Amino acid sequence: MVSSFLVESQSVPASQKYVQESNIKNYALHEYAGKNRIAFWEACAEQLSWNKKWHTVLEWNSPFAKWFDGGKLNASVNCLDRFMNTPLKDKVALYFEGERGDQQSYTYEQLYLKVNKIANALKSIGVKKGDCVALYLPMIPEAIASMLACARIGAVHTVIFAGFSSESLRDRVLDANAKILITADGGIRKGKITELKKIADKAVEGLTCIEKVLVVDRSNQNVTMDSDRDVWFEDLVEKQEPYCKPEVMEAEDPLFILYTSGTTGKPKGIVHSTGGYLVGANTSTKIVFDVKPKDIFWCTADVGWITGHTYVVYGPLSNGMTQVVYEGSFDQPGKDRIWDIIDKYKVTTLYTAPTAIRLFMKWGEKYLEGKDLSSLRLLGSVGEPLNPEAWHWYHTQVGQKRCPIVDTWWQTETGSIILSTIPSIMDMKPGCVGKPLPGIEAEVFDDLGNPVSKGYVSILSPWPSMLRGIHGDNRRFIQTYWNKWGGRYYLAGDSAFKDENGDYWIEGRIDDTINVSAHRIGTMEVESALVEHEAVVEAAVIGIPDKVTGQAICAFVVLKDGVASAEMMKDSLKEIVADKIGKIAKPKAIFFVQELPKTRSGKIMRRLLKNIALGQKPGDTTTLENEAVIQGLFQK
Ligand code: WT7
Repeated sequence: MVSSFLVESQSVPASQKYVQESNIKNYALHEYAGKNRIAFWEACAEQLSWNKKWHTVLEWNSPFAKWFDGGKLNASVNCLDRFMNTPLKDKVALYFEGERGDQQSYTYEQLYLKVNKIANALKSIGVKKGDCVALYLPMIPEAIASMLACARIGAVHTVIFAGFSSESLRDRVLDANAKILITADGGIRKGKITELKKIADKAVEGLTCIEKVLVVDRSNQNVTMDSDRDVWFEDLVEKQEPYCKPEVMEAEDPLFILYTSGTTGKPKGIVHSTGGYLVGANTSTKIVFDVKPKDIFWCTADVGWITGHTYVVYGPLSNGMTQVVYEGSFDQPGKDRIWDIIDKYKVTTLYTAPTAIRLFMKWGEKYLEGKDLSSLRLLGSVGEPLNPEAWHWYHTQVGQKRCPIVDTWWQTETGSIILSTIPSIMDMKPGCVGKPLPGIEAEVFDDLGNPVSKGYVSILSPWPSMLRGIHGDNRRFIQTYWNKWGGRYYLAGDSAFKDENGDYWIEGRIDDTINVSAHRIGTMEVESALVEHEAVVEAAVIGIPDKVTGQAICAFVVLKDGVASAEMMKDSLKEIVADKIGKIAKPKAIFFVQELPKTRSGKIMRRLLKNIALGQKPGDTTTLENEAVIQGLFQK
């Protein structure tokens, strides 16, 4: 068949050397886990350190799962304490490099000490088990250590990406009912300072839930400190005792809440558990990244996203890995910064996003010249489809055809990698995300729940790191993920094609979220921000393909009568979005229109807008309420 020929002709095998040295040599693990799913996950859980063993591996009352029920553990103990009596205590956990070239390194023992002190600091200001602590920090060691410190005392952390605006921060702090906010005076990016403390001040103004704000001194900024509320992080941490007894947590106790966009204007607070999440993070890191003791792992994600949670904090640290953490932008001071860092720290494993790869590709190979990338042995990608052109560039220019690429598919909700290439046992196909990991049962279904080759990505049975809910909104949890097939299967919200080998090719989201630089942005969130502008009557937002960011935001705006649709207005609209949500949500293109095309039931016809934005024919418009609208749109 033509399709199988196409698929096969695109296959690229991993190098002999990689295959020989890989931990996984055959499908035995996949097969064992397929037949003994529960026993497989139980064996994975046994790799961690528990205070008390579980009595039940899985209790499944769809859609509510309990994994390792009866088991007790602490996540920070699993990332730190359990190495203290081993040679790993002197191994480097983190190499930190700031944009300006400042460096720090922490051995596991040093990180342990820091985490213990922060944990005591949090306790000293009244944080108790079950309380929520919000983090609004740059990508600095304090962010990682604070997450672990929360885990140590049983506080639930909610990390808010430091690119979000004060309004977004406020919404999340309020929704999570956070008691403490940890921020910094400023973050350093692109040679500039983002005044995080100022943004944080605005965010928590008048919020009664926030009792204290801890401020890390990162960038020597002059900040206003409220003497009742604000405390310098270092001052408080410095004077603490070096040991904090870890709280013994139930496996199902929440470890963190992380917000992600959905179809409504309100972000979803995805709740993850302690035991199951950690098992997923630990196991997937080991399997996908073929962990070796001498690895130097670099996941370029910020801890403000799930990738940073799982593959900067809990996965690598629970595996005792050494990693690189970089605070800044990839083009500072020059466009060769990433290659310099790889060369300098002898990075073996690089995990980044397609948007970054396309950016490096755009900048060109010349920036790689003279850099020694021979330490690299494995490359990874996450966040959006890795198009074949970028795949080949990554493979050839960065991996020098020596390093295989793992294209990993997962989500904030899944907690850890679900689908991935395992290059030692399967050929790589550019653009393809491989197969379900051992212990994961996935499928592509049609509307009725029949397996098909093209349809919805779904997960058939519970997995340990699955989300446990949406904070404070069980109805939305059920409706969003479990209603489609009557609670039987998890609806991921992506469409995909499954080829004859059972390999998955992700096509994209089926909901109204846009994937910009591997971050999900809700169309409704951007639309709500736009209509808050005094000149705007109505707005509709769509995603259009973009060479670097994957998708870019394109807005159609109806202005009030008498307002001039000038260029200046576009800037002011972009500003309001940056202000309300954050810079990442700024529309790239804005079109002013007289009216928005809607169906008879009042739904905005985004498909039609997409056609227009891409200069294509309008397509089927039979459900359009006012066909004259199209004419109007096309004339613009
Ligand atoms: C959505 C999840 C999980 C880490 C980063 C994003 C898309 C993720 C891939 C991939 C194609 C991908 C999906 C998914 N996605 N990885 N390898 N190939 N698409 O996390 O913000 O929760 O977004 O990102 O559409 O549903 P997220």
